[in-house]
Amino acid sequence: MSDRTLVLLKPDTVERKLIGEVVSRFESKNLDIVAMDLRTLDADTLARHYEEHVGKGFYGELVEFMSRGPVLAMVVEGPEDTWQVVRNMMGATNPRDAAPGTIRGDLGILFTENLVHGSDSLESATREIGIFFPNL
Ligand code: PPS
Repeated sequence: MSDRTLVLLKPDTVERKLIGEVVSRFESKNLDIVAMDLRTLDADTLARHYEEHVGKGFYGELVEFMSRGPVLAMVVEGPEDTWQVVRNMMGATNPRDAAPGTIRGDLGILFTENLVHGSDSLESATREIGIFFPNL
């Protein structure tokens, strides 16, 4: 059975014109993109999406960054454990620690501007897809 995860290409990816580069990596992996939408996120949507981080020390910086320009929201589908496949392709949260060959390892340097978000479990994927694509 196929399963799905939520991916956000963050504002830095859009600003740096890396949408094609990152989407191409998912396509080359033979994952399917079943929904895609370019949109600017408001504070309410970010609070729902990052509910477990609201109130943490970095939350203000995260919201400022994530709302400074549009993100590309996508639902990515694969045969199994898609969230994990995508997270492996993304690399470590801090691009400085991310292995070469990963999206963050190849394309990023700064912690906040880490290019991409991927759901961190099947449960998160279901919840986050519901926020961004409630009609799927
Ligand atoms: S935690 O507290 O360990 O659960 O947080 P973590 O999983 O490392 O990160 C959660 C998301 O917050 C972002 N983050 C930050 N943004 C800005 N500044 C700082 N210092 C910072 N630390 C963490 C991180 O990129 C994660 O974003 P997503 O979109 O989930 O990748």
